[in-house]
Amino acid sequence: MFDVLQPYPPDPILRLIADFRADPRTDKVDLGVGVYKDEAGHTPIMAAVKAAESRVFAGEDSKAYIGPAGVPEFNVEIQKLTFGAGHPALASARVATVLTPGGCGALRVGAELLKRAAPGATIWVSDPTWANHIPLLGNAGLKIREYPYYDRATSTLRFDAMMSALAEAARGEVVLLHGCCHNPCGADLDLDQWRAVADLAERRGFLPFVDLAYQGLGDGLDADAAGLRLLAERVPEMLVASSCSKNFGLYRERVGSLSVVGDSAQRAEIAVSHVNNIVRGIYSMPPSHGGAIVAEILRDPVLDAQWRAELGAMRDRINGLRRLLREQLQERGVARDFAFIERERGMFSFLGLSEAQVARLIGEFGIYMVNSSRINVAGISQANVDYVVEALAAVMAG
Ligand code: LMR
Repeated sequence: MFDVLQPYPPDPILRLIADFRADPRTDKVDLGVGVYKDEAGHTPIMAAVKAAESRVFAGEDSKAYIGPAGVPEFNVEIQKLTFGAGHPALASARVATVLTPGGCGALRVGAELLKRAAPGATIWVSDPTWANHIPLLGNAGLKIREYPYYDRATSTLRFDAMMSALAEAARGEVVLLHGCCHNPCGADLDLDQWRAVADLAERRGFLPFVDLAYQGLGDGLDADAAGLRLLAERVPEMLVASSCSKNFGLYRERVGSLSVVGDSAQRAEIAVSHVNNIVRGIYSMPPSHGGAIVAEILRDPVLDAQWRAELGAMRDRINGLRRLLREQLQERGVARDFAFIERERGMFSFLGLSEAQVARLIGEFGIYMVNSSRINVAGISQANVDYVVEALAAVMAG
């Protein structure tokens, strides 16, 4: 029966990994997939993660099943990290959390829950949004609509247009928001804008679904979650998908969480009973290893402090690279104003180049990025910044 299938093209972001690896040029630069890199272009295992992992190995005495909700200690700790210890929604037990295989697992399971609660519901996503949001949510059967978010010509948020579009979102509909470090554009809502979104959600009755994939990589662990924490104080119901891929560097271990905020503790528990059933019907239960590592770190004050310091250094490095790239482009005298790169947060920014210019960067210079000209800023280094700036100047000169 497989003879009816035609080859399916690889995912455009993941494909860059293979293309970059296969490129023999020694001066090639990887600004593609969103993984943190150090000055040597390496994605290291954090020291706190290594230490916690050896403790997990040493202390583990069984590989018996853990159940669809995953590692209970992880679920408790990640709730506090996401919402902030003492958040009113946690104090009133209105949040129920499960460990998922990465942020992707959380988004997909969340979408399945929405489908059960509101079959055929519409989910509004930002234009642009992370390309994989569309299959993760759409394949579950949700209808996708877009709201304007970012103006590529001026490299600024389209907040007024976003609010006008979302004024049409109704009760029973869902709005996907990036908690921080917007992927792909790096432009985030400020707190006043989050407040305005909360007002609108209250007025219109739509359900916010926050994707928090980069907590700690923008302005800090608390600052990056401030928007969703504010929403969780205001709206009766919401969903949060969080990822430990980037902030714990646990990419391939697949660690994330789905939190359901209900209008009462009882409703949150009921919703999670459905989540458990959905999980059982897809992958039965999540892998525990990565969740156990995160729980080990967050429960131990010494490891926790070490992890926070390492994460802070990663964040400072990325923000420093943003400044460096902007300065070097300015010094090189490129005609365009790249101040937005320094203003934006997280791993990504759009350079505002055409697909043909991106193709030249890859083909002539071995500088890899998504063809929308989204770059992973963490792929820049002191060693390659001159080369990158020269290449950008060359393709922008025409
Ligand atoms: C990215 O956008 O590059 C990352 O989120 C990795 C991925 O899975 O696409």
